Order: sequence, then structure tokens, then C-alpha cells
Amino acid sequence: MAEKQTDGKNSLSIRDNRTGRDYEIDIHEGDVISAMDLRQIKVEDDDFGMMSYDPAFKNTASTRSTVTYIDGANGVLQYRGYPIEQLAERSSFLEVAYLLLKGDLPDQDELDSFVHDVTFHTYVHENVIQLLEGFRYDAHAMGMLISSVAALSTFYPEAKEIEDPENRWIQIVRMVAKMPTLAAYAYRHHRGLPYVYPENELSYTANFLNMLFRIGVKEYKPNPVLERALDVLFILHADHEQNCSATTARVIGSAHADPFSAISGAMAALYGPLHGGANEAVLRMLERIGSVDNIPDFIEGVKNREERLMGFGHRVYKAYDPRASIIKRTADEVFEVTGRNRLLDIALELEKIALNEDFFVSRNLYPNVDFYSGLIYQSMGFPVEMFPVLFAIPRTVGWLAQWEEMLLDDEQKIARPRQVYVGQGERDYVPVGDRG
Ligand code: SDX
Repeated sequence: MAEKQTDGKNSLSIRDNRTGRDYEIDIHEGDVISAMDLRQIKVEDDDFGMMSYDPAFKNTASTRSTVTYIDGANGVLQYRGYPIEQLAERSSFLEVAYLLLKGDLPDQDELDSFVHDVTFHTYVHENVIQLLEGFRYDAHAMGMLISSVAALSTFYPEAKEIEDPENRWIQIVRMVAKMPTLAAYAYRHHRGLPYVYPENELSYTANFLNMLFRIGVKEYKPNPVLERALDVLFILHADHEQNCSATTARVIGSAHADPFSAISGAMAALYGPLHGGANEAVLRMLERIGSVDNIPDFIEGVKNREERLMGFGHRVYKAYDPRASIIKRTADEVFEVTGRNRLLDIALELEKIALNEDFFVSRNLYPNVDFYSGLIYQSMGFPVEMFPVLFAIPRTVGWLAQWEEMLLDDEQKIARPRQVYVGQGERDYVPVGDRG
């Protein structure tokens, strides 16, 4: 490194060699410069000015946020400053939901009131059931969930009043409360089973399991280990700062669309196999590998770019995803109850090999939140189509927290990136008969 020539200023000195002009660009907190400060760099005075080019926003901060902090190099994840390990160990999903939405852990009265409000908003309008009946029996549950969440905006047209904090809050409560109901109804439709209505004396996750799995009994008692395991999984999936789907919620919300439409769009982004759809893709990958003996060939396929090791890699984490470690421990507790998932041996061997192969190590590819979660869901009796749905339910809280933070941020406007045009220059229209 060249000898440092510092003048102690918290800025960048930029020389534009095309013009010989010098510029001072302020450095803000966290080693950040404002992209708009680049616009002063021009050749001609009437030029548009300098822009940064960043496909997929790999090096672009779109917002300041106080919701979630990730240190990707060290595998750190905190919700409003609380380490994910402590929340998973000691909190509940609805308490974490309150934390993400309100910014602080609730006192007992606040928690009781929030749990009450969520509990008493779990029903959906009967017309929603008719909407779900319109889907084929084999419709993917995510397609049904995305559609029914968007449909909720037609039942609550006042949700468009996004400037009204009380109105925002009731819509937020409705979405947190109704997501398990819609998800369970999609599952029951898929199975051709009658719908089980919400039971208000059950906990959030027990009510969800009841709506999913109660068949032919007056009282469905979920196994407390599974009920707690699902609650922990919901905590782990609740938010993850500016991921693809949260950014989608923010972008749609920046146009001042209603929150149901914004969350439906975010859910569509999550559905992608590179994002929340990865948990389903992992299970299908493990089933396709079939046995530990087939792993070496599969790994070769990954190295030759014929395969992708789903559930591995992350844009931010360049160390082990802290959620994956907790999920792995939770899996052991679940398998005590459900019996060991036979695919676990393939997953563990895949991880062992990948963590020692240069192809993966050199690319910082570690298991992410989606690598082990599907094994738990499958052992709990969920079909693979429900796996991204089980991600979407808790992540609805994170999307809503990010959506509202965006609305209240004076620096935010409607999202509208620029482009670098590399298309055709101007040319004249040619009638179809004269085209070559
Ligand atoms: C989630 O952003 C979030 O926070 C998301 C999430 C959340 O909570 O919201 O954490 C949830 O989406 C987790 C990720 C789930 N997706 C998967 O498990 C799908 C498999 N993983 C990837 O496709 C990939 O790792 C991504 C999408 C997660 C990250 O992609 P990046 O950051 O764009 O990285 P990249 O595609 O540029 O990969 C860098 C290199 C490439 O090799 P080279 O071309 O440089 O030689 O690593 C390779 C990639 O080919 N690579 C993989 C790989 N992931 C990356 N090779 C094989 N298998 C993989 N899984």
C-alpha cells in the first residue's frame, strides 16, 4: 500500500481526468457516499452528471433502517439490536413481531393487547373461501396465498389511507392475523379437506397447526415440541433487512399502494427459488440426490455449473448463516418427536463435503436459512409446496415493518432507478411491406 497522504477530512477527493477538475465528496456514516453527490461531476455544464451503475444493487444502500442488522462477515443477525440467538431461545413469534413492528419489546400489557388483537382478527371473509375454491386442486399454495392476500385489499378499501397511523396499524394486525388462516385454507384446499376455522383459545402457532391438521377430532392438541419449533422457525424467518422481497415491499409501497398489494408483491418475490422458494428447492434436490453415495457426482455437477447447491450461499452472509445453526438444533428436537428425516444424512454429508471443498469455500458458500428448514417442515407433515408459505407467514411481519419505515422516512420518494441506455440510436419507421 502507498504511504497514506491524509488531511483528516471525512471525504473523497476525486479528480476527473477528462476535465482536470477536482471534487470533494462527503463520506457519511458507515463509509457511504451519497450517489446524488456524483451528479456534479460533468464534462459539459448541461450534462446529466455522473451516475453509479450497480445491477442487482450489490453495492447500493437504498435506505437507512433501524429494523434489522446483519454483519455478513461474522454471521451476526439482530432484530432492533437483539441477537437472533437470544430471541429464538427466549421470545415468542408474536413478541418478536411486536418488537419488529414497534421497535421495542412490549411490556406485559402491550403484549397481551397485541396477542388479543391478532387472535381476534384471524377470520377471513367467506368470499375469500369462494376465491380459493376457484383454484385447481393441485394449485401451488404460494400462488393461492399471493392471490388471496392481494384480494384482501378489496375487502378493506380503507387500507389505501396509508397516511393514517391507526389505519396502518389495523391493516398490519389483520395481515399478521390472517396469514396463517389463508395458508391453512390453501393447504386444506390442496388436500380436498374441509376448512378448519380459527380457534381463539389457541396460541398463534397452535391455531395454525389446528387449522392445518385437525381431521375428525373435536379437539386437536398439537405436540408442544412441534408448536414451539414452529414458533422458533417463525422468529428466525421474521425479517432480514433489505432482501429481495423486502425491497419489493418498499418499492410497491413507495408508490403509495395499499399494504395488502405491497405484501402480495413481496410474497411473489419470495416465491422465487433463489429466495424463499429455496427451501422447497432444497428438498427436491435432496430427494433427487436420493442417497449419500450419489453426492460426489452431484458435487461434480455443481462444479461444472450443471447444478446449483440450493440452500447454500448468500448475498450478505460470507460466514455460516446464524439462522441455519439454530434451525439445525431445532431439527434435532423435532426429529425426537417425528422420527429422523432420512434426507438429513444426505444434507449433513453435503454440508460436510461443501465446507471442505475449495469450490464452495473460495466462494464463501455456507448453508443458509433454507438448507435445513425444509427437513423440519417435511417431518412435521408439510408437503414441499407449503415450504415457501411457511417462510411467507412470518416474513409478513418484516415486510410490514420495512414498509411502514419507508413510509415514515422523509428521505424516501417513489422508487425509480435510472438506466444506462445501450439500445438502438434513433431510426425512422419503415412500413411492413418495405422491411427486409
Ligand atoms: C434467502 O437476501 C436475503 O437476506 C435472503 C434471505 C432472507 O432471509 O430474506 O436470507 C433468504 O433468500 C436465502 C438464499 C436462498 N437461496 C438459495 O439457497 C439458492 C442457492 N443460492 C444462490 O443461488 C445464491 O447463493 C444466492 C442467490 C443466495 C446469492 O447469490 P449472489 O449473491 O448473487 O451470488 P452469485 O450468484 O454471484 O454467486 C457467487 C458465486 C458464483 O460463482 P462464479 O460465477 O463467481 O464462479 O458463487 C456461485 C455462483 O455461481 N454460487 C453457487 C451457489 N451460490 C452461489 N454455486 C453453487 N451453488 C450455490 N448455491
